[in-house]
Parts: sequence; structure tokens; C-alpha cells
Amino acid sequence: TGESLWGSRFTGGPADALAALSKSTQFDWRLAPYDIAGSKAHAKVLHRAGLLTDDDLEGMLRGLDELLADVLSGAFLPAEADEDVHTALERGLLERLGAELGGRLRAGRSRNDQVATLFRSYLREHGRIIARLVLDQITTLADQAEKHLGVAMPGRTHLQHAQPVLLSHHLLAHAWPLIRDLERLAEWDARVAADSPYGAGALAGSSLGLDPLFVATELGFTNSSPNSIDGTSARDFVAEFAFVTAQVGVDLSRQAEEIILWATKEFGFVKLDDAFSTGSSIMPQKKNPDIAELARGKSGRLIGNLTGLLATLKAQPLAYNRDLQEDKEPVFDSVDTLEVLLPAFTGMIRTLVFDTARLEELAPQGFSLATDIAEWLVRQKVPFRVAHELAGACVQECEKRGIELWDLTDAELAAISPHLTSEVRTVLTVEGSISSRNARGGTAKDRVAEQLVELRAQALRF
Ligand code: ARG
Repeated sequence: TGESLWGSRFTGGPADALAALSKSTQFDWRLAPYDIAGSKAHAKVLHRAGLLTDDDLEGMLRGLDELLADVLSGAFLPAEADEDVHTALERGLLERLGAELGGRLRAGRSRNDQVATLFRSYLREHGRIIARLVLDQITTLADQAEKHLGVAMPGRTHLQHAQPVLLSHHLLAHAWPLIRDLERLAEWDARVAADSPYGAGALAGSSLGLDPLFVATELGFTNSSPNSIDGTSARDFVAEFAFVTAQVGVDLSRQAEEIILWATKEFGFVKLDDAFSTGSSIMPQKKNPDIAELARGKSGRLIGNLTGLLATLKAQPLAYNRDLQEDKEPVFDSVDTLEVLLPAFTGMIRTLVFDTARLEELAPQGFSLATDIAEWLVRQKVPFRVAHELAGACVQECEKRGIELWDLTDAELAAISPHLTSEVRTVLTVEGSISSRNARGGTAKDRVAEQLVELRAQALRF
């Protein structure tokens, strides 16, 4: 049976009910390799401070490496009586090195600075994994955009036909938020890297001449925490990570919602690949967009992880409180969720087949060229207020008669206003409309081609 880390002041062990409540190995065991890395760095700093001999250090590092190998192979596992990952690993080390040497490692550190450091290390590593997966998603959107450059589609606001845009432009509009998510992750990482709390002890810092900066550097951090109380108790780094993962979830969910609509009979914009869609157990004809729906559903879960965490953090006095043990499960869940969701989502986007003929056909419908009439009039020096009214009158006439804007004859246009000469027809095509929106960021083909280059260049930064 495991021994608690604080035995001597207590007359008995914890009640079973307390042990059951307190236990965290069922979820914090994934931190074990990071804890061992922290222990190795800590052993070195103890040695540098003269608290371990050369032989002690060598034995200690060997013991920790053996422990790591056993953890990775599954030969060493937490026991029923181990409270948390730190307790279990301490037991493992004592079993391997004996109490004399094994018992020296705990000097000058606390589970408070340990867990605050290794949780940072864990999230930094998974932040990099998630960034890779987000980058794949960006590249996939860019590839689809490149493949369909020139294809028009109905651009919408309020889900109503608004103005024709290029499909590539629309797809890239989903890639840019993900670029910003990568920026957020990179900035988050730089901030966390400069804040290694190891050496803070429980809260007040070390009296043993241990150098926190040395440990920080050993663990891949750029600096140690400037304030030991803050370093052991703040969890804004966890909340911020949970926010970025929630935002990625929201960004995927926005794409997902469109794919679900686009795959319907009514829209008919896309076909999902068989490998990335599901069938129905009863309806033989069904092909369902389950990946998109799971993305939409899981975004709710990612948001919940963030809000739950913020609620846990609020109103905790300094410094460490046991409430903080609740910081791990939500964000572990966010990591697991994105690591399983992103590859499937990217596969779905990569294999989407667009019905480009249908997109092109629908692009000018719903009077989506009305703005082009108004702006053409403005270029003829008609005030926009008047131009807007005249274009509106054209729409009204067409709607009444069940025709499209380009069906109006020269005489009918002239009857609405003498300003509406036959020249206006140059903008009454999808091609004319799209190519006229040629300022930076606009939907003209050349601008979208430039945007694609810009996006790919941005993606190279990550
Ligand atoms: N398992 C705890 C956590 O995850 C670390 C232990 C600190 N416990 C304590 N009593 N100081 O936050």
C-alpha cells in the first residue's frame, strides 16, 4: 500500500471516503513523463547546490530513467492507495532506489510547484500537436480554394443571397480564423515558456540555494516565474489554452454548419466522400454528415470546458488551493477532443466534391446583382441614395413578373430611369460583378489568387 506524503503529523490514514474524493491518478497519470522530466531537472539542481553527491545524482538519474521506462511500458502503474501522479512516482522511485537516496529528491519542491510546471509542459507539447493539426486543416482549405479558383457561388448574409463571390474566397474565409488561432497558440506558448514555477516550493520559494532558472532551462522554458506565489497558483495559462481550443472548436463548427446545409438535397452544393460520411441503420439511401455534426456538437463541449474552468478559478484566494486539482480534466478533454476531431474534419474537407455547375447557376439568383446596378449608377455620378432606390425598383419589377434582373429590356430599364442605359448590362453578369470587386480582400479572381499566396505565406510561420 502507498504511504501518504505527510504521515508523521497524523495519527491515522485518510478515511476511505476522503481517499476516494482526493484521488486524481485516474486522470493525472498522463502527466507522469513530464513529472519525471521535472524530477531529473530537480535532481541536477540539488546536485549543483551540493545536496546530492556525484554518485547520488548518477543513481538518481538512473532510477528516474528506469522509472520512466517502466511508466512508458506500463510495467509501473499507480496503485489504489496513490493519491496523485506525484505520490505514485515518489513510491516508484523509493521502490527502485531505497529510502536513503530516493528520499532526497523531495527537498525544496512541493507538488504545488511540480504540478504547476508539468501542466505547463504538457499543454505546451499538446499545443504544438494541435497547431500541426490546425495547420493541416488550413492547408486543406487552401488546396480546395486553389483547385476551384474562378468558380462563383452565392455569397450570403443572413443566409439570404447577397452578392456573388468566388468559392475560393469563401473557403479562405474559413482559413484565416484558423491562422489567428495558430497565432494565439504561438503567443500563448511564448508567454507560458517564460514562466516556469519549479523551485517555488509550496508558495514562498526555496531556502536551499536551488536555481529556478536552471530547472526552467532544463525543461525547455525560457525563464522562471518572477513570483513564486503567482507561479504556483495562477491558472490563467490553462484558461487561455481552453479558450484557444474552444475558439478552434467554434471555427470548425462554423464550417460544419455550412457543410451540413450544403450537403442537403435543397442546397446540393457538395457531396461527401463515402469514407467521411455515415449511413443509416434503417434508411438505405442515407448519407449523413456525422463528422460535421460531431464538430458542431463538440464545440459546445469545448466551450463548456472553458466556462467550467473559469468558474473553478474565480474567487480562489492565493496561493495553492485544492480546488486547482479541478483544472486538469476539462482541458485534457479539450486536448483529446481536438486531437480526435481535427484529423477527421480535415479528411472530410479534403475529400469534399463541389457541384460547381450548381454553385455557378445559383450565384446570380435572388437578385444578388442588385448592388452592382446601384454601384454602376454611382460610377455614373448618381448619388447612392438615388441609385439604391433605382436598383430596388428594378428588383421590385422583376419580382412582380417572376423574371431576373438581366431579363429587363433596354426599354424597361429606361422606363425605370433614364440613367439606366444598356451599358448597365456589363455588371449584370456574375463575371462582371465579381471582377469589379478588385480592392485588396475583395472577391475578384486576381485578388483571391493573391490572398491564397498570402495565406500560404502566413501558414509557413507556424
Ligand atoms: N494533485 C494536486 C493537483 O493536481 C497537486 C497536489 C497538491 N496538493 C496539495 N495538497 N498541496 O493540484
